[in-house]
Amino acid sequence: MGCRGPGFFPVPGSGLVVLGLLLGAVHSYALELNLTDSEKVTCLYAKWQMNFTIHYETTSKNNKTVTVSDLGTATYNGSTCGDDQNSPKIAVQFGSGFSWIVSFMKKTSTYSIDNISFSYNTSDNITFPDAKDKGVITVYDYLIIGIPLNDVFRCNSLSILEKDDVVQRYWDVLVQAFVQNGTVSKKEFLCDKDKFSTTVTPIIPTTVPSPTTAPTPKEKPEVGTYAVNNGNGTCLLATMGLQLNITQDKVASIVNINPNTTDFTGSCHPQTALLRLNSSTIKYLDFIFAVKNENRFYLKEVNVSLNLVNGSVFSIANHNLSYWDAPLGSSYMCNKEQTVSVSGTFQINTFDLRVQPFSVMEGKYSTAQECSLDDDTILIPIIVGAGLSGLIIVIVIAYLIGRRKSYAGYQTL
Ligand SMILES: *[C@@H]1O[C@H](CO)[C@@H](O)[C@H](O)[C@H]1NC(C)=O
Ligand SMILES: *[C@@H]1O[C@H](CO)[C@@H](O)[C@H](O)[C@H]1NC(C)=O
Ligand SMILES: *[C@@H]1O[C@H](CO)[C@@H](O)[C@H](O)[C@H]1NC(C)=O
Ligand SMILES: *[C@@H]1O[C@H](CO)[C@@H](O)[C@H](O)[C@H]1NC(C)=O
Ligand SMILES: *[C@@H]1O[C@H](CO)[C@@H](O)[C@H](O)[C@H]1NC(C)=O
Ligand SMILES: *[C@@H]1O[C@H](CO)[C@@H](O)[C@H](O)[C@H]1NC(C)=O
Ligand SMILES: *[C@@H]1O[C@H](CO)[C@@H](O)[C@H](O)[C@H]1NC(C)=O
Ligand SMILES: *[C@@H]1O[C@H](CO)[C@@H](O)[C@H](O)[C@H]1NC(C)=O
Ligand SMILES: *[C@@H]1O[C@H](CO)[C@@H](O)[C@H](O)[C@H]1NC(C)=O
Repeated sequence: MGCRGPGFFPVPGSGLVVLGLLLGAVHSYALELNLTDSEKVTCLYAKWQMNFTIHYETTSKNNKTVTVSDLGTATYNGSTCGDDQNSPKIAVQFGSGFSWIVSFMKKTSTYSIDNISFSYNTSDNITFPDAKDKGVITVYDYLIIGIPLNDVFRCNSLSILEKDDVVQRYWDVLVQAFVQNGTVSKKEFLCDKDKFSTTVTPIIPTTVPSPTTAPTPKEKPEVGTYAVNNGNGTCLLATMGLQLNITQDKVASIVNINPNTTDFTGSCHPQTALLRLNSSTIKYLDFIFAVKNENRFYLKEVNVSLNLVNGSVFSIANHNLSYWDAPLGSSYMCNKEQTVSVSGTFQINTFDLRVQPFSVMEGKYSTAQECSLDDDTILIPIIVGAGLSGLIIVIVIAYLIGRRKSYAGYQTL
């Protein structure tokens, strides 16, 4: 006992290492659920990790915070495949009186991860020491993610939901509801953050990228249509493909907005109109339009907040923009790529853009005012150029034919 070689850890130390490994294993415990229907066929599959940070009031003056991450004792009572009346749901119970429930909703060609509720019991004074007893508290939150039916949803990136006094964190998520024929799909639908991290993360920061190995140009974003309704019919229309360009630490990240997984709201007033987009990565992206000189409209403000891959939030606003200017009663159109420069670190590239934030009649666009990029004037020199070269070709051919004729004529002589 007393004689230990220099290569050995002290016995209590190795005990701690083992304990630490065990704790580590418990902390990174992945939850897994394979639900089967009455015919013992898989109908819902999920594997994921999560933890929760709860802020609670105490009997003294200071509030306290506790993080619950040991879900090793989880049970799944109440989880169901759903039927015609009820949506499928995953219900998890763990620790001393924690309950977490998520439900799924089926649409025509997609399904979504829908409502999430999380309950905790502040009467449990082991988990919540000194808590002011408020009994069971439940927070409700929701996600808007449209997943194609028969696709399995994957999100390895960290997702954070913050509501009331609770921060919910999810990662390494793999889930499919409405599983067909009992086989979990091989086709994965990635969350925006996973796409973002695989396409734009600078991988080797130690090597300076040479100009010839520039990142592959990102494909054009899909065009989405956003129609805001004020109860009286459509009052704002926007059709556009949107690409965000976020520059951080001199690295530009390009994110295409997928209209399928982006939700929107807005509002219309006589002098201002708002279009707000939301998704799992976009906390909000506000386009605020205004009227100027009583007869024109323009994009006046952009206010954005994004959840970044590393869990931090990027926010920026500019209230003095001047883009997309057109007469009231018409729409603004620009098919070419255009850039809205919100700040030195944030710009929005738009594609196939058409907007009408005011005076929309019968849910349709009015006549369009086109951006100068789409203007026909650029075509004129091309047509003139083409005309000239055409003329030259005609002259050359005429000359050659002329020569041939005279040559042939010479021969017959
Ligand atoms: C404690 O939490 C309650 C409710 O969450 C909040 O209203 C109160 O301001 C907090 N007090 C302090 C000192 O942070
Ligand atoms: C909770 O999850 C986050 C994200 O994975 C992790 O950074 C954090 O350490 C976890 N907290 C605890 C107490 O395990
Ligand atoms: C599941 O929950 C129901 C209602 O809360 C309860 O009656 C039942 O005993 C529970 N089953 C298990 C296995 O815990
Ligand atoms: C909350 O916890 C307290 C103390 O552990 C317990 O007596 C009570 O029954 C729990 N409430 C619920 C709704 O589970
Ligand atoms: C499920 O099985 C049916 C009948 O065998 C087949 O038509 C259908 O394409 C299958 N669906 C999937 C997603 O494999
Ligand atoms: C992104 O922004 C940076 C900095 O403004 C710019 O150099 C780069 O060309 C932009 N990339 C795209 C695809 O718009
Ligand atoms: C959006 O949905 C349409 C129709 O379901 C589909 O064709 C398209 O590929 C989807 N786009 C993306 C980027 O997921
Ligand atoms: C941007 O929007 C957020 C949320 O609506 C708001 O709290 C914030 O004040 C706005 N920022 C600016 C500079 O207007
Ligand atoms: C996330 O990344 C950005 C840019 O690299 C950095 O400025 C920010 O501090 C990071 N946040 C965290 C929480 O690591």
